[in-house]
Amino acid sequence: MNQAGLHKLLATGSTGKLTIEGKNRLFQQRLATNLSIIQHLFFSLYPEKDHAPAFQTLLATLSRLYEKRPSGLQRMDLERLFEKNWYQSEQLVGMQLYVDNFSKDLKGLKEKLPYFEKLGVNFLHLMPLTTRPEGENDGGYAVNSYTDIDPRFGSKEDLLSLTKALRERQMYLMLDFVVNHTSDQYPWAQKAALGDTKYQGYYYTYPDREMPDAFEMSMPEIFPQSSPGNFTWNEAMGRWVMTVFNHYQWDLNYSNPQVFVEMLINLVEKANMGVDVIRFDALAFLWKKLGTNSQNLPEAHRLIALFRMCLQVVAPGVILLAEAIVAPKDILRYFGEGLLEGNECEVAYNASLMALLWNSIATKKTGLLYKSLASTPAKPGDCTWINYIRCHDDIGLGYDDELIRDMGWDPQQHRRFLLDYYCQRLEWSPATGEIFMYNPRTGDGRITGSAASLLGLEKALRQARREKVQAALDKIVLMHGIVLSIGGIPLIYAGDEIATLNDYSYRDDPDKKGDSRWVNRPRQDWKTVANLDKGHSPASEVFHRLRHLIALRKAHPELADRNNLSLHNPNNPHVLVFERMGTEGKGILVLCNFDENEQVVDASWVSRLGYCGKKEYTDLVSQQGYTLSSGLLPLKPYQILWLAKG
Ligand code: GLC
Repeated sequence: MNQAGLHKLLATGSTGKLTIEGKNRLFQQRLATNLSIIQHLFFSLYPEKDHAPAFQTLLATLSRLYEKRPSGLQRMDLERLFEKNWYQSEQLVGMQLYVDNFSKDLKGLKEKLPYFEKLGVNFLHLMPLTTRPEGENDGGYAVNSYTDIDPRFGSKEDLLSLTKALRERQMYLMLDFVVNHTSDQYPWAQKAALGDTKYQGYYYTYPDREMPDAFEMSMPEIFPQSSPGNFTWNEAMGRWVMTVFNHYQWDLNYSNPQVFVEMLINLVEKANMGVDVIRFDALAFLWKKLGTNSQNLPEAHRLIALFRMCLQVVAPGVILLAEAIVAPKDILRYFGEGLLEGNECEVAYNASLMALLWNSIATKKTGLLYKSLASTPAKPGDCTWINYIRCHDDIGLGYDDELIRDMGWDPQQHRRFLLDYYCQRLEWSPATGEIFMYNPRTGDGRITGSAASLLGLEKALRQARREKVQAALDKIVLMHGIVLSIGGIPLIYAGDEIATLNDYSYRDDPDKKGDSRWVNRPRQDWKTVANLDKGHSPASEVFHRLRHLIALRKAHPELADRNNLSLHNPNNPHVLVFERMGTEGKGILVLCNFDENEQVVDASWVSRLGYCGKKEYTDLVSQQGYTLSSGLLPLKPYQILWLAKG
């Protein structure tokens, strides 16, 4: 049993109004439950012989942080313990958005809550809201503060009022915790730049190139085009500072326990604003070690688990999402392994599935998808995925080379094909994407573009080809239909629900033009939204078809993530089939055609799985019953079927 299970057991009987004594007892109980793990993790990172006082500081900090947790949220913490893993529910459907691009500010967002409800969205990921440097700031991922709301979005009161409104509507909120780095204007960085050695020790700073050169031997570059290398010279400080991402994002030095304790305080303050899920940004990079690539290190896992175990003492209702865009086997480790299983992050991005879906669209084949899903070990029962087709970042081609070879393809050539297919280097390709961080030395690159543009809508509209427009719309629905049914929290990227095309305005903004991820960060088009119910358009078709799928998802508890996913092989290289088993003989079989032509699967095979009668079958998506005219079940180009049994 993971620690959350223990907290639930121990808290039984603590519901109702909490007295001061009751609260104190709960804190002592939670601390006692996690203390040995916290102690073990802490001293494994910060040896006891040197850091015993720092551990005492941590314990005192936990008690202070607990006292500061608002009582409404403390009650919610208790309620959450008794809800069976709420984050695995089929009722959750998420949307990710930039508040300024979506609704101008937080007050505006509150007014848009009925829009989410109309679509069926009840989980919001708002992109960074806190203060950031003027000019380049990586969309707010360079933080000047963890708690001060940037005036462009409104005030802290606006955020608190929004979180209250969300809770009243039973909607959930996810916010980022940029845990790996601060901006170069963060107070610690500024003090370090002024020569304060205490704060220089909060970052990795060096007087000369000796250590940076040693690190560079084994550390890859994240933004090779716009921010080559992993270190930046700071003139004021007269020292090199580690900057793995952009030159203005300074990596925090977690080998210093003070950094951990202070960041824990920042984390809890963020949670106390009424956040349900904390997105641990770029967490694979948290620990740096000479001679390694400084990603996914065991110490990083211990550090994340330490954050998790401490947060659970103070705010057990808040859960963590791992933003680890790494190889599939490495992603799974963020759920915790061994004793830490279920004690690291409850949720992780299913980045592998996302990248594989784009591979299937380009190749029109599902082989690599099958091979990859089949070779990934099962995740722990109490954890779940965020499933998505697009987010604000690029699409990386992080496939397993071995499996690409198994398909009979050359890994390098295959990646090259995908870049060409999506980034307008193939005349016949329907996609209109852009290349991101192309490295001419290695030929590596990543892909950016909105879902609709990558799936062919932009080009089809330009060419005024009706059948191609329809194919693009069907592909948008297919991709979303998969993430809505495969198990986990589906996260729609704002704008995709109305088939928004690429936004090229970033090219005219000096602070954005070096980062083509902005092509996929458009303003929400409220004029289009106003017309969604008035006549037919690509936007209205996508919106209404997705709305229907969302309502279907919520009506089928089989689609909750109870680790009830099985893959089936239909013996058709263009088709993906998976099943979500329910209780009492219920289930849903999802069939997806990635090809531009009609495809068929053997109807008796579907019938043996229990989803098709001798002569007929019923599809939940099209809400129609069909009669089979042969022994083959047909799938139209890019069609997705959800067949129900029981
Ligand atoms: C995460 C964010 C990305 C950002 C990076 C650095 O990967 O998703 O947008 O650039 O972290 O903070």
